[in-house]
Amino acid sequence: MNLDEIRGKAVWEIKGARNAEELEAVRVKYLGRKSELTGVLRSLKNLPLPERKERSVLANALKRELTGLLQERAREFSTVRGARVDVTRPGERLRVGHLHPLSLMYRRVRDIFSSMNFSVVDGPEIETDYYNFEALNMPADHPARDLWDTFWLADGRLLRTHTSPVQVRYMETHEPPFQIIVPGRVYRYEATDASHEYNFYQVEGLMVGEDVSFAHLKYVIETFLRRLFGTGVAFRFRPSYFPFTEPSVEVDIRRTGKGTSSKWLELMGAGMVHRNVFDAARYNPRDIQGFAFGVGLDRLAMIQYHIPDIRLFYSGDLRFTRQF
Ligand code: FA5
Repeated sequence: MNLDEIRGKAVWEIKGARNAEELEAVRVKYLGRKSELTGVLRSLKNLPLPERKERSVLANALKRELTGLLQERAREFSTVRGARVDVTRPGERLRVGHLHPLSLMYRRVRDIFSSMNFSVVDGPEIETDYYNFEALNMPADHPARDLWDTFWLADGRLLRTHTSPVQVRYMETHEPPFQIIVPGRVYRYEATDASHEYNFYQVEGLMVGEDVSFAHLKYVIETFLRRLFGTGVAFRFRPSYFPFTEPSVEVDIRRTGKGTSSKWLELMGAGMVHRNVFDAARYNPRDIQGFAFGVGLDRLAMIQYHIPDIRLFYSGDLRFTRQF
């Protein structure tokens, strides 16, 4: 065989080897002591000088080429079998993700209400005028609509300003008695400051039955806040107004104890469900009564984690989120 023939066959067989053992056999066949190429190299010394030089260059080039190809394929097999893994090397530290403070807060809120037998219900963020306002006792010319300005879609729908629309949606398809919470994102067309965002989270609560009273409302909210914050906070019920509750209250909270700010923070709106809302849901207000509340999840998290500015939640600043 001349060098070209050796090359052709060797390259073919190196490429065709299916494992390290087959590759080794090919190496022995073409580069081993008894191989033809080794024979050629050995016999060079018998040739006349000009011919010896020329053949030596060609034969050595072929040897280098085949050696290179063999090494390449050998690497392939050794990585496939994982033979290069050094088990004594220290492990690489993986950066594990974690929950956002608002998610952490939501889970605590959900767990407390679940333990009081509340179910979790969902509703759409894109709402109709009807559910966001009309069914909540706010007809088109109602001045309270100004409190809840929002972003409107071209087709007349809007981004919901609160989770309260889910009250009517739920009552339309369910019979009392029941108690639910509705967590979700809400939107407002308003300027931001340290305690106001134009999108934030609320958790709505709704409990309806034959004799659900204001005393139940007070008990549920007090139990919720005590379980969440322990004794380190004070809260107060303050008379207020919402078109969809009567009577209505707002609940404020502040941290107590040394070195803490004594400013009250408005936490939630609440009240007894207005009879016009029951009408919209086709319930008979003579048969049932209930309470509702809407709490700002961001504000809860601000109190819990001592966060001075609500805008930090949405800043995307890793120095902030990595602290939780
Ligand atoms: C409401 O949205 C009523 N739907 C609450 C309600 C439900 C009343 C059921 C009665 C019965 P209000 O606009 O006050 O009410 O918002 C409720 C809570 O959301 C506030 O107490 C506050 O904690 C939070 N909140 C309101 N606006 C913002 C804002 N711009 N940024 C962050 N949190 C806000």
